[in-house]
Amino acid sequence: MKALVLAGGAGTRLRPITHTSAKQLVPVANKPVLFYGLEAIRDAGVTDVGIIVGDTHAEIEAAVGDGAALDISVTYIRQGAPLGLAHCVLIARDFLGEEEFVMYLGDNFLIGGITALVDEFRAGSCDAQILLTKVDNPSQFGVAELGRDGQVVSLVEKPTNPTSDLALVGVYMFRAGIHEAVRAIKPSWRSELEITDALQWLIDSGRQVRPHLVSGYWKDTGRLEDMLECNRQVLETIEPRVTGSVDVHSQLIGRVVVEEGAVIERSTVRGPAIIGRDSVVRDTYVGPFTSIYFGCTLEDTEIEHSIVLEESTIRGVSRIEDSLIGKQVEVSPSSALPRAHRLMLGDHSRVSIA
Ligand code: G1P
Repeated sequence: MKALVLAGGAGTRLRPITHTSAKQLVPVANKPVLFYGLEAIRDAGVTDVGIIVGDTHAEIEAAVGDGAALDISVTYIRQGAPLGLAHCVLIARDFLGEEEFVMYLGDNFLIGGITALVDEFRAGSCDAQILLTKVDNPSQFGVAELGRDGQVVSLVEKPTNPTSDLALVGVYMFRAGIHEAVRAIKPSWRSELEITDALQWLIDSGRQVRPHLVSGYWKDTGRLEDMLECNRQVLETIEPRVTGSVDVHSQLIGRVVVEEGAVIERSTVRGPAIIGRDSVVRDTYVGPFTSIYFGCTLEDTEIEHSIVLEESTIRGVSRIEDSLIGKQVEVSPSSALPRAHRLMLGDHSRVSIA
């Protein structure tokens, strides 16, 4: 069995972070979201992994490399433009051959892994296995309608009037019949070759598409609120660990991780929270559900329920909440008169000033 991991796409809902970075590399509890998926695949016993990459290929390749650090072997497949999930299967034809495979969307986040699902699929003989979960906003996903017998009747991508609240989770399992399906379908209204349409094609051709309802935690991390929620979920489960230094005037409360080389001085960190390697936290309060990535400086600041990416500096600001702060960002009070907010924000930035 092989795996096909999709790490292309534009990430429009996470702009401006995604103007310069891959959405799959935004860290959740200081680990890129993509790595959770790759680990789940490896834990399911699948080590031959193809990764579809787009404009952000250099960054993904730098982060994942040949996969050896994760005990997998990675083949990169370039997608010239984000033409849809089924298009990814189309261009991965040579890599996949006739083997069965699991397709995993690199921005999807599942707690509990996929081992049982993969085992179930391998034990059976269906042409495809899909995961479904109840959501409040089905029109933002692919939606499945099930018949009385529990079998899939129809699958529609982002329907205006959804016929159910069962969304397609971004993990799919296929046998080689899917290749015929992705060749047969036409682009959708959003000009993409939809995997949802390919699945519908399988159903219409009398193939077996088996639904599996997942009850565990799942998120498509496409939006800021979802990123923060995933971060919250993972931080809840971290084991406290201090390999950096914490001075006697500081207090760590609850589940806190202080990584190698990090320095905490005259500060309070109330967990669950993680302070990344080589970051400095001085005269600062870090509140619950906060992840500070590596090489950051936080001084005379209060921050809570936020994610800060690498090498950013925040000084003299109280207080920051519910925020996602990019790489090498500087946030500080303006000292010069007239007293004013002085901003240099990238396109599609969002700022709310207290
Ligand atoms: C894609 C699929 C959709 C699925 C979703 C899960 O949506 O097209 O069917 O429900 O992933 O994350 P997209 O991310 O392309 O909007």
